[in-house]
Amino acid sequence: MYRELFDLTGRKALVIGAASGIGRAVSQGLREFGAHVIAADKDVKGAAEVGDEAHYVDVTDLSSIRELMSRVEVLHVLVVTPAVNFRKRVEDYTYEEFRKVVDVNLFGAFATVKEAIPALKRSGKGSVVLISSIRAFVVEPGQGPYAMTKAAVVQLVKALAAELAPYGIRANAVAPGIVDTPFVEQIKRRPDWARAYAEKTALRRWASPSEIVGPVILLASDAGSYITGSVITIDGGWTAIDGRFDPLGEQSA
Ligand SMILES: NC(=O)c1ccc[n+]([C@@H]2O[C@H](COP(=O)([O-])OP(=O)(O)OC[C@H]3O[C@@H](n4cnc5c(N)ncnc54)[C@H](O)[C@@H]3O)[C@@H](O)[C@H]2O)c1
Repeated sequence: MYRELFDLTGRKALVIGAASGIGRAVSQGLREFGAHVIAADKDVKGAAEVGDEAHYVDVTDLSSIRELMSRVEVLHVLVVTPAVNFRKRVEDYTYEEFRKVVDVNLFGAFATVKEAIPALKRSGKGSVVLISSIRAFVVEPGQGPYAMTKAAVVQLVKALAAELAPYGIRANAVAPGIVDTPFVEQIKRRPDWARAYAEKTALRRWASPSEIVGPVILLASDAGSYITGSVITIDGGWTAIDGRFDPLGEQSA
C-alpha cells in the first residue's frame, strides 16, 4: 500500500531544464515512476533524450514560456531547474551580469510557475518543485546575486504554498549542495576548490545528479502529500556541520 505512494502513473510532469544535470536525472526518475514527462529546455535535442515529448523554451522569454504552456492542458508536476551564476565579488559584478542572473533564476522560476498555474489547477493535485541551493543559507565570496535569487526561491515556494493550497497544489524546493553537473565546470577545473567543497560535507564528497531524484520524487508524488512550503536540503551534511575541526580526531588523541 505505501509503495504506491510514489507511483506517478498517469501523471503529467513538466521538467524545465531537462537537457542537463539535475533536470535530466529528474526527468529520467519521474519517467521510471510512471509519469508522462514533458521535457523542456533551450537545448531541445538534449531534452528529447529524456522526455516522452520535448519542447523548446527559454525561461527568460515570456512568449516562449506561453507557447510551451499552450501545449500543456493538464499538469500534475512542475520542476523548474534553469539557473546561471557568475562567481564574482559584488564589486566586480557588471549590471549586465546581475540582470542575467535575476532574469534566468528569478524571472524564469516566477514566470514558468505563474504560467503553469492554470494547467496545475486542472489536475486538482499539482506539485511544484523549484531548485534552490545551500547558497540560500550560506555563502562564500563570489556568490552574492546567485545567493540572493536562491533565497528568493525559498520565499516563492512559501507564497505558492499559501496561495495554491485551496486548489490541491503543493509547492516546495530542494536545496542541493554541490552536484556534479556542467553548472559547476569552473569549480571542477580548480582542484583546490573542488576538494574544499567535498571536505566541507559530512559525507566528504560531491553528489551525483541521481541523488537529487529521490527527494524530488517524494515531493512530486503522494508520498509528499503533507509537505508544502518546505525546503529539503540535499547537501551531504554541508550546512549541518561547521567542518573546521574534529576535537576527537586522531591528532588530538
Ligand atoms: N550543480 C550544483 O552543484 C547545484 C547546486 C545547488 C543548486 N543547483 C541548482 O540546480 C539547478 C540545475 O542546475 P544543474 O547543475 O542541473 O545545471 P545544468 O547546467 O547541468 O543544467 C541546466 C539546464 O538548464 C538549461 N537552461 C539554462 N538556461 C535556460 C533558459 N534560459 N531557458 C531554458 N533552459 C535553460 C540548460 O540548457 C541546461 O540544460 C540550478 O537551479 C542550480 O542553481 C545546482
